[in-house]
Amino acid sequence: MTKTPDQAKASTIWGGRFAGGPSAVMQRINASIDFDKRLYAQDIRGSKAHCAMLVKAGILSDADGRAIVQGLDRIRQEIESGEFVFRTELEDIHMNVETRLAELIGEAAGRLHTARSRNDQVATDFRLWVRDTIDGMEKALKDLQAALLDKAEAHSATVMPGFTHLQAAQPITFGHHLLAYVDMFGRDRSRLADARVRMNECPLGSAALAGTSFPIDRHQTALELGFDRPCANSLDGVSDRDFALEFLSVAAISAVHLSRLAEELVLWTTAQFRFVSLSDSFTTGSSIMPQKRNPDAAELIRAKAGRVIGNLNSLLIVMKGLPLAYSKDMQDDKEPVFEAADTLELSLAAMTGMISDLTVNADRMARSAGAGFTTATDIADWLVRAAGGPFRQAHHITGQVGRLAEERGVELEGLSAGDLQAIDPRLTLDVFSVLGVEQSASSRTSFGGTAPANVAKAVQAARQRYL
Ligand code: ARG
Repeated sequence: MTKTPDQAKASTIWGGRFAGGPSAVMQRINASIDFDKRLYAQDIRGSKAHCAMLVKAGILSDADGRAIVQGLDRIRQEIESGEFVFRTELEDIHMNVETRLAELIGEAAGRLHTARSRNDQVATDFRLWVRDTIDGMEKALKDLQAALLDKAEAHSATVMPGFTHLQAAQPITFGHHLLAYVDMFGRDRSRLADARVRMNECPLGSAALAGTSFPIDRHQTALELGFDRPCANSLDGVSDRDFALEFLSVAAISAVHLSRLAEELVLWTTAQFRFVSLSDSFTTGSSIMPQKRNPDAAELIRAKAGRVIGNLNSLLIVMKGLPLAYSKDMQDDKEPVFEAADTLELSLAAMTGMISDLTVNADRMARSAGAGFTTATDIADWLVRAAGGPFRQAHHITGQVGRLAEERGVELEGLSAGDLQAIDPRLTLDVFSVLGVEQSASSRTSFGGTAPANVAKAVQAARQRYL
């Protein structure tokens, strides 16, 4: 490419063997500072740990070490107060910080990069960032579980239809339904905890790829930065991005859980369902239809799961087929992770708010719980118990009861004693004792079942386990 007027000078950091600088386009495609400035706190923390280790190992003088730490602290303040000028021509957060350090303390700044490379530096910074983010997400999931548990407790006996194929299936309790999500989000938390344990090894000191000839102490820096140990292999240390992929997989699964709950809120708030109402804080109106109250936050949570899934795919595809060790492709690891983390943080907060605020239309739920012959299984179960026949036969007889009710356009309770007897003499009026939706739900006392007494206990158990 021919030189353009905006052609830059060679980098003072790596430009020793270059006569000219990169073109403007090269600078634009190469720079990551626009997004990796988010790693500034981790970068400074990592540099301070590295500096302390260099001093202790006798690689750096005490005086240089002190100057570097003071300079880094000052840079942190400058960034946090907004004074710091991030420069695209300095590519990334690492070179922006180092260049400013040289402006502040002079030559000693150039000694900080001894026994280190940007390859192990970025791998360390990014791990620290993902680790902090995992901790924040864990907390956000726990807050959502707490909101779900409060509602589940208040509605341990509120009966609603349970669905399979989105067809009314059997009466369940609303509390039971919400507890299903409490367990899903509990598994998300446990996946995060697993990922955190696996990722908690420190790449710093892997240097460019092969380690270093300086007598560094990688155990010291690892412990200083809260890692359990240094990564055992320097090539793996600089090229592993499993930690980011694992975070994204957990994020994607969690986003899928959120989107399922979001979809239920969208359904339940329709005029056709009217099971729950969302608060004014989490709904919007229509500019043309005055009656409208739209569940926008739920719809957006449903949509945003797509992005998080895309973020996981995007990094899997970046990483596939990359030879060891570092390749610049890996610079593209950050944006998908940042986007997934931001999206999930917002979705979790919005879902927690919607759940805390929602009100339940218990009458409507109970009425709807019986529609669609949802207690047919109870008739079959009753026949097995009362008449001792096999369940398959009872199922067949109950099917005929359902068909007759459908023909007459009535619910099961609308059939007469004569109707039942005509189908099977074992069907006495006693069967009506099991037909109410409350009775139906209350009878399901098997472990993990929907009976209100179970749900009340399950809420307490879940509080113990999760909160
Ligand atoms: N900004 C780079 C990244 O995020 C830092 C590592 C650069 N290493 C290199 N050898 N050019 O991946």
